[in-house]
Amino acid sequence: MAQWTSAMGSTQLARLLASQQDRPAGSGSRRPPAYRALADGIRLLVLEGRVPVAARLPAERELAVALAVSRTTVAAAYEALRTEGFLESRRGAGSWTAVPAGNPLPARGLEPLPPEALGSMIDLGCAALPAPEPWLTRAVQGALEALPPYAHTHGDYPAGLPALREMLAERYTARGIPTMPEQIMVTTGAMGAIDAICHLFAGRGERIAVESPSYANILQLMREAGARLVPVAMAEGLQGWDMDRWRQVLRDAAPRLAYVVADFHNPTGALASEDQRRQLVEAARSAGTVLVVDETMSELGLDPDLAMPRPVCGFDPAGSTVITVGSASKAFWAGMRIGWVRAAPDVIRSLVAARAYADLGTPVLEQLAVNWLLNTGGWQAAVDVRRAQARENRDALVAAVRRELPEWEFEVPSGGLTLWVRTGGVSGSRLAEVGERVGVRVPSGPRFGVDGAFEGYVRLPFTVGGAVAEEAAVRLAAAARLVATGAGAGAESPHTFVA
Ligand SMILES: Cc1ncc(COP(=O)(O)O)c(C=O)c1O
Repeated sequence: MAQWTSAMGSTQLARLLASQQDRPAGSGSRRPPAYRALADGIRLLVLEGRVPVAARLPAERELAVALAVSRTTVAAAYEALRTEGFLESRRGAGSWTAVPAGNPLPARGLEPLPPEALGSMIDLGCAALPAPEPWLTRAVQGALEALPPYAHTHGDYPAGLPALREMLAERYTARGIPTMPEQIMVTTGAMGAIDAICHLFAGRGERIAVESPSYANILQLMREAGARLVPVAMAEGLQGWDMDRWRQVLRDAAPRLAYVVADFHNPTGALASEDQRRQLVEAARSAGTVLVVDETMSELGLDPDLAMPRPVCGFDPAGSTVITVGSASKAFWAGMRIGWVRAAPDVIRSLVAARAYADLGTPVLEQLAVNWLLNTGGWQAAVDVRRAQARENRDALVAAVRRELPEWEFEVPSGGLTLWVRTGGVSGSRLAEVGERVGVRVPSGPRFGVDGAFEGYVRLPFTVGGAVAEEAAVRLAAAARLVATGAGAGAESPHTFVA
């Protein structure tokens, strides 16, 4: 029986490989033989998750034609990949991708390693902070005290606990956006919210406009839901949303959905101005596109004098264009897995009905914990702890990267949890690969792009501070040197990860 679960066409693979050619290999690198370059290219695509594991690769002859190389080159590349454990083959069934046993790299997305598996690795993969204690413990104790009346019920609340829906609605109303509890559905994280929205609005083959770059896991979620992603390039630096481009894409592609992170965009950290928000809503409305606004990062303003713009849904008083997604993951703790949707009551009813075939509901105890936080002021106290932590980490990381890697370029965002860094001509994918060997896990730029963009970038999160931030920058500089001199392939170091 064949061991592959998806197939990669020769044109598609050739396009992905071509996107790697644009990246500078770094000065002083030696040109490898053609078969080696091809094997390395495919290996990187597998390690980054851009070619899934267990994907059948094109036949040698087909790929040779698509790449305009000899069949011998492709055969030698496949043979090298087989020897290294990145390809398996069976006569009659073809060849499919694999990851060698013990390889620590994630196959796709940004899955964090379990903390106990990290060892001496500095993990810059995941933009999430540890729980802001003592608030987690207090919230769970508060939830336990509130639990008895719920223990007498069936425990199924597909729209969320009424008390929490009411509380979340009140918070929007207090922000100047009148909201009823019927407009709120509690979900399993923002991921659960966006998954539900994609399934309701964007069936297979439907278009979704996304910022380019955008949050990697949401892009992957949308791909897996069968959507066709239409990237809209973000402007340079922290300018964010180029409204001419947005208007053009929404008009020309008329996507069913558009997904934006207007508050401290992940990965760039950009914050949309009120004018950009108004124009986004207008452009979406005239294209008949539903605008999904992810507010996961919205409470992470880090600069003390920062005035937050009006929420995007504030520019859609009729409530027919914007769906807002919120989450406790960044403001409080990702381990809560609590998120929510704010939308028109009929949209909420449809999302709730569809939930019967997905996860049925969100755990009651965690909802009670978030409700306790929101009712007692614990939420705001925890957000203050978060902001202080993130601000300190941001400043330490910025200083360390400027010192160790002066040729790397970035702008310091006023909030959020991420720094989007141009790596001075060094391939972000190779940095990610070599970083694993020198003890720093960092996601490469292409994970945040559609089809291979952003090879010259990495994302650094504000999750480490002090001496760890300094050590992270030292290791990143070591990785950059190895990549730039071409010494990265196969390099070992005392920090080599052991699974
Ligand atoms: C913009 C954005 N949306 C959604 C998520 C995931 O949120 P949750 O943990 O609530 O599913 C993240 C996490 O990094 C994020 O940055």
